[in-house]
Amino acid sequence: MDRRPLAPGNNEVQAARAAARETGALDPLKIGVLISGSGTNLQAIIDRIADGSLNAEIVLVVSSRPSAAGLKRAADAGIQTLALSKDIYADPWDADEVIATELKRAGAEYIVMAGYMRKVHEPLLALWPDRVVNIHPALLPSFQGAHGIQDAYERGVKVTGVTVHFANAVYDQGPIIAQEPVRVEEGMTLDELETAIHAVEHQLYPHVVKLLAEGRVHVNDDRTVSIS
Ligand code: GRF
Repeated sequence: MDRRPLAPGNNEVQAARAAARETGALDPLKIGVLISGSGTNLQAIIDRIADGSLNAEIVLVVSSRPSAAGLKRAADAGIQTLALSKDIYADPWDADEVIATELKRAGAEYIVMAGYMRKVHEPLLALWPDRVVNIHPALLPSFQGAHGIQDAYERGVKVTGVTVHFANAVYDQGPIIAQEPVRVEEGMTLDELETAIHAVEHQLYPHVVKLLAEGRVHVNDDRTVSIS
């Protein structure tokens, strides 16, 4: 069977963007953002684009929940949105077909998962090979899953942090692009740790999108990531 990818992978897109950067002809990176909740990471990216420090354009925000507060953030910034109701996820592959169609139509070059509480499947991963990124509120591979901050806190770790990685079919296990540590200070409450983690996320995620926009991210053959 022919297993050629359906679309260019990260490395091809990054090489083209690096070349365009050299010639000073770099278009904004077109991204689609997937959310489920409050959307503070989405907001951090919106703010960096607005202040001119991130050469990107959010072409579509997709929410897995119509009530997600992040939808209002997108609408306030004049970004097109798509809210999917619960029943569409009865078949997660079908849902991803719908999302992929809309993201393609919008011209997304990368997909940025920002608090998206669903997995992504082949319909998306095949069309954006190594071009779907996720943020996780712990230092992967530690504390995978939906409660990374609390699990790390309850384990009593002294250092936790934030990871941005490529998403693949196995959750939380794609190539790691960037990590930032957060120290768990003596006597810190879980709330305080959450606040500290989120503050780091809001710096790190726009930073990684900037690296992608500038064509600086390369996935090596051994599935590690180099930044140039
Ligand atoms: C973040 O902590 C992110 O790491 C996790 O979900 C949370 C999303 O927060 N995946 P927000 O919706 O961006 O405010």
